[in-house]
Amino acid sequence: MTKCSKQAKQFLPLLIVISVLFLAGCGSGSSNSASNGSSSSSSSSSSSSSSSTSSSSGSAITTKVELGALLFADVNFSKNRSQSCATCHNPEHAFIDNRLNAEGEIPAVSLGDDQLSLGDRNTPSAAYAMFSPPFGSRSHARFNSQQGDYTGFVGGQFWDGRSTNLAAQAEAPPTNPIEMGLADKATAVLRLEENDAYIAALKRLYGNTIFDNAELAYAAMADSIGEFEKTPEFAPFDSLYDLSLKGEYLYDPLSKAAQGKALFFSQQFTNCATCHQLQANSHKQELFTNFEYHNIGVPTNTDVRAVNGKGEGFIDEGLFENGAVSDRGEVGKFKVPSLRNVAVTEPYMHNGVFRDLKTVIEFYDHYLTDSVHTLNPETGLAWREPEVSESVAFTELEDGNKLSAEDVEALVCFLRTLTDSRYQHLIEDKGIDCGS
Ligand code: HEC
Ligand code: HEC
Repeated sequence: MTKCSKQAKQFLPLLIVISVLFLAGCGSGSSNSASNGSSSSSSSSSSSSSSSTSSSSGSAITTKVELGALLFADVNFSKNRSQSCATCHNPEHAFIDNRLNAEGEIPAVSLGDDQLSLGDRNTPSAAYAMFSPPFGSRSHARFNSQQGDYTGFVGGQFWDGRSTNLAAQAEAPPTNPIEMGLADKATAVLRLEENDAYIAALKRLYGNTIFDNAELAYAAMADSIGEFEKTPEFAPFDSLYDLSLKGEYLYDPLSKAAQGKALFFSQQFTNCATCHQLQANSHKQELFTNFEYHNIGVPTNTDVRAVNGKGEGFIDEGLFENGAVSDRGEVGKFKVPSLRNVAVTEPYMHNGVFRDLKTVIEFYDHYLTDSVHTLNPETGLAWREPEVSESVAFTELEDGNKLSAEDVEALVCFLRTLTDSRYQHLIEDKGIDCGS
């Protein structure tokens, strides 16, 4: 119950009018905080069915955002009523899936509602996702880069951009067999109709005839979730980096973070800005991704493939799996992720193959001339081959100067300052002391 009310508190500023409703929806709160994949579905199922009964007697939902917030946290849109969007995108943990595995770690891939199925890609944060532009092929200038302008695919949702925007994205999980597992859209709409407050809200917000067509009712549900994902709760812009732009925080010029910041935005010393800077320097809404697509040579996550049924021969073709992409040259590319909150969203890369930020930075460094980082610090072995070797972005990746051990720490310390204030308590030391 403590956890439940704690979770509810996070939503209160936004949902003050419907707090009664929200508290009733706490079934998902307890499922989020389950520390392993074996949380009993019978208990969440009983608490959630009581939630729909009490919701129906609650006060009216007046906006799409309010409706979307309730749907986002409602476990009833999964087959066994065991998971909601918030299970895999926990608002208390930077909107990632922080349910721990048997080893006590955040796993590389998420467990589905059936408590068996495992995905093949790491669950990205839903925070700041609203800023990804619609999927398409476009050109843009880069900042602090020795590389020229970019022309190619940008934006969209998912690692391969296959959903163009948040509403389209939200249509996917409920009927994905390895995620929420409902048979089809009509089944999801039946679940909606279990709740009188949802019925009334959908009619009010999307028209009285919305339930005449299950496709449209389902799309309306996804649309309201998308509207919720566009609220400031998902993008507070209140990290130390943001505060520094407003003059409310000063990077100590002698600190590792300040050194890392200089390296990160340097045109000469690192290539990070080539792909992780969207706007001119000091822009108030820098997203730390320009939404380009690249293959940076990430190796296969063999541990995941050994247990998720994909088998050794499987290859994740990334952008080439996007139905709107037909050029084989796009194989193995993934959307550049935002680095906001990255210090608390381990493990890393589209397949979660790296556990530490230090590893990620040493991985980048291994592409540079005379790099001293020839071994993966997590395995003690040489870096493995890329999963897809034909499209690696060598031009961008080989551009820069090799990093010293201090440089690596400095970059980690800078990345930690991109953490929203709400998640700063989650930052772990991991052997790197960034000073105060
Ligand atoms: C079982 C875990 C799971 C559940 C439940 C789940 N997601 Fe996700 N989510 C993922 C994974 C994994 C990906 C990445 C998949 C890919 O790229 O192919 C993802 C991707 C996303 C993205 C794209 C982020 C980006 O930067 O590209 C958004 C937004 C998102 N989910 C929102 C939602 C919403 C809304 C719901 C509920 C309707 C939901 N998710 C339910 C696991 C989950
Ligand atoms: C050529 C473009 C490019 C350059 C240059 C680049 N990145 Fe990336 N970065 C990416 C892409 C693409 C991914 C995701 C790759 C994947 O999962 O296959 C990524 C992933 C990451 C991640 C993991 C994020 C997560 O949530 O999993 C971190 C951290 C990161 N980059 C930091 C950096 C830093 C620091 C630098 C400079 C040393 C840098 N990047 C340079 C494109 C780039």
